[in-house]
Amino acid sequence: MNNLAGKSVLITGASEGIGRALALELAPLGARLALNARSAQRLQATAHDCVALGAEAVALPGDVSQRQDCQGLIAATIERFGRLDVLVNNAGITMWSRFDAVVDFSVFERLMAVNYLGPMWLTAAALPHLKQSRGLIVAIASIAGLTGVPERTGYAASKHAMVGFFESLRIELRGSGVAVSIIAPDFVVSQIHRRAVGPDGKPLGTTPMQESRIMSADECARLTVRAMQRRQRLAILSARGRVGRWARLIAPGMVDRIAQRAIRERH
Ligand SMILES: NC(=O)c1ccc[n+]([C@@H]2O[C@H](COP(=O)([O-])OP(=O)(O)OC[C@H]3O[C@@H](n4cnc5c(N)ncnc54)[C@H](OP(=O)(O)O)[C@@H]3O)[C@@H](O)[C@H]2O)c1
Repeated sequence: MNNLAGKSVLITGASEGIGRALALELAPLGARLALNARSAQRLQATAHDCVALGAEAVALPGDVSQRQDCQGLIAATIERFGRLDVLVNNAGITMWSRFDAVVDFSVFERLMAVNYLGPMWLTAAALPHLKQSRGLIVAIASIAGLTGVPERTGYAASKHAMVGFFESLRIELRGSGVAVSIIAPDFVVSQIHRRAVGPDGKPLGTTPMQESRIMSADECARLTVRAMQRRQRLAILSARGRVGRWARLIAPGMVDRIAQRAIRERH
């Protein structure tokens, strides 16, 4: 099934990690790709690789935490492709610190600005175009948007906000032809853990994850594209995430312990 051929798709955070893998997964399907991130150089490299795979691709540098940049991104996509079929809210940042060790609390504001308000501003600007195309909004959330995770209080809060926003919007959009797909990956190999903000507000610099034991960005992208093609309501990308969703109704303490162990063992 390829219902994405010829579709105009805007992906935020497309210079690295899951966003870049998504762009490379969509390129051979014939999607027309508008790619965003802050770093113009890395973004251009992704666009170049997509073109080499036969896609039309344009690099649109910008910061999703800025309302004007979000509006500009949608306008530039329309200007280039004449329509918008899919908005993929992927750009995101994270943190690693117990709450009682946090010294620089500005990270909480930054997490909300990038992970929640950015997707909200983008959606606000994109909605008229998505209604016209009877399109799709994709929210790359996280298991941390569905359940609590230690050492990620600010991240989990921002992803819960994102999930709450898109769950509510989906109901408002009933009958409009616009679908909302929420994707909840478990740990994925990417740059996000290296860049994660520690208790002092500075990036960790090294990944705390056992990368050999977690999902690759390519696999995450493959599963995400499958969910997009099905316009799936919610795709939880790990078995423990799927089990946890139901187990928390009857044994919430057990789910807390699974989350605690996942963080302690870093996979
Ligand atoms: N990796 C995981 O374990 C995991 C698990 C669950 C969910 N997720 C979610 O998946 C999404 C992608 O994360 P990832 O793991 O692929 O991270 P990543 O490798 O760090 O990539 C993040 C991307 O977002 C861009 N970005 C960051 N801040 C931005 C901003 N303010 N405006 C525009 N672009 C911005 C980055 O480029 P620039 O720095 O150049 O802007 C980069 O292209 C995030 O929403 C994350 O929360 C990740």
